[in-house]
Amino acid sequence: MSANREHFSSKLGFILAAAGSAVGIGNLVGFPVSATKNGGGAFLLVYALFVAFICLPVMMAEMAMGRKAQKDPYGAYKSLSGNDKKWSFAGGLAVLTPFMIAVFYMVITVWIFGYLAQTALGNLDMLANPDHFGQFINQNTVFGYMVVVAIIVNLILVGGVKEGIEKAAKFLMPALFVLLIGLVAYVLTLDNAMAGVEYYIVPDFSKMDASVLNGALSQAFFSLSLGMGILMTYASYISKKDDIVGGAKMVAITDSLVAFIAGLMVLPAIFSFNPATNPEELSDSSVSMIFVYLPKILLALQTDIGYTGASIVAFVFFLLVFFAAITSLVSIVEVPTAALIEEKGVSRKVALLILAGATGLLTVLCTMSFGMVDWLTKFVSYGGADKSMFDIVYDVFYDTILPLNGLMVCLFVTYRWKKAKLSEELSQGCDSYSGSFMEKYVNFSLSTFIPVILLLIFVNTVATKFFAVSLFGF
Ligand code: PHE
Repeated sequence: MSANREHFSSKLGFILAAAGSAVGIGNLVGFPVSATKNGGGAFLLVYALFVAFICLPVMMAEMAMGRKAQKDPYGAYKSLSGNDKKWSFAGGLAVLTPFMIAVFYMVITVWIFGYLAQTALGNLDMLANPDHFGQFINQNTVFGYMVVVAIIVNLILVGGVKEGIEKAAKFLMPALFVLLIGLVAYVLTLDNAMAGVEYYIVPDFSKMDASVLNGALSQAFFSLSLGMGILMTYASYISKKDDIVGGAKMVAITDSLVAFIAGLMVLPAIFSFNPATNPEELSDSSVSMIFVYLPKILLALQTDIGYTGASIVAFVFFLLVFFAAITSLVSIVEVPTAALIEEKGVSRKVALLILAGATGLLTVLCTMSFGMVDWLTKFVSYGGADKSMFDIVYDVFYDTILPLNGLMVCLFVTYRWKKAKLSEELSQGCDSYSGSFMEKYVNFSLSTFIPVILLLIFVNTVATKFFAVSLFGF
């Protein structure tokens, strides 16, 4: 362990930063909408089971690897495998994945910031125009917003672990909670709010099929920031005295709670806007919900509270989503940053400059792939459709590689690093872990059915996404 390696100042700082990573755009809109469409309470129940029985062990494994190695993911695979070349591929992917997902997430965060700025300028009516989003993403102003977001993210990251990431999380996470609770309290007072809550909570098990189950697991995996090297990197900044088992549970609970509470904000708003909404017809995509559908709903509040009132609610909403996005973005850029610092020996500033250049270039290309530049918009064709540059980053890294990275973590900790070492690491800071049911469950699940499930998801995704064939009917 390097003596001068930076650490979080407390366990709370670590938990807030990791929860800040986990709580993102996916929690606030994607989760509630997919829960409502896919069986309401039945989806919530299945999701909670997946978080507890599949995601939590993977999360603990990632954290254990990071804390034991006190290194970035590439360095962690290398040092824990005793320099075994076979595993450098997994380490490389664990750094490349966050780098690419940072690009995809940056594009969306920039749009959120643009909408936030426009609500602050009093332009909610413009945002609510259904054609606006299509025009907005193809205007040059997005590059201006991009510069501002890049500056914010880099200002946080240049501060390092304690003064940057931890301080930002300690401010942004409580603020996010307050904004969320405030919005929920307001939305629940609207007419027909309860109809939305009912759709969200009342279980309908008939909707459960293999594809809903797959969707729920993928959502949980992404939402908890698994497979991205983030938790490994953040856990490398905590001390041996800290309790990983308790920390992982706290992060999983916070993330799921925020996702659940977000449903109490989004669904009542949708149903008070249109009590006859058919949930099945709601868009699956968080992007169209946030940028097209919700602005319309937010503007409609003006009949109740006036244009200024509606603009304030809209501002609070976009601020909430922006805070959630920034803490996630910071966490994902920290992974390649840590890797550059540790593997290439550069300073934090230089690492951030290199990454700003590299991610900046790719983000600009992705931003131009929505119609601005033709060859980027129709970059390649697979799975029976033309795909833009943005689609590729999304399909390859978000959809396909994440479960593969999770699979590698499971195989690595149980078969290469070995269960005894994993147990030993997880017991440090958590005396009750050794010999517990939890220990037996974690060791068993990570070496058996979790990797099998992740492998099935990976193979099925490759088949459906890239070859347009569904292997297992989901
Ligand atoms: N957990 C985040 C979300 O729900 C996902 C994410 C984390 C994305 C970190 C990028 C970086 O949106």
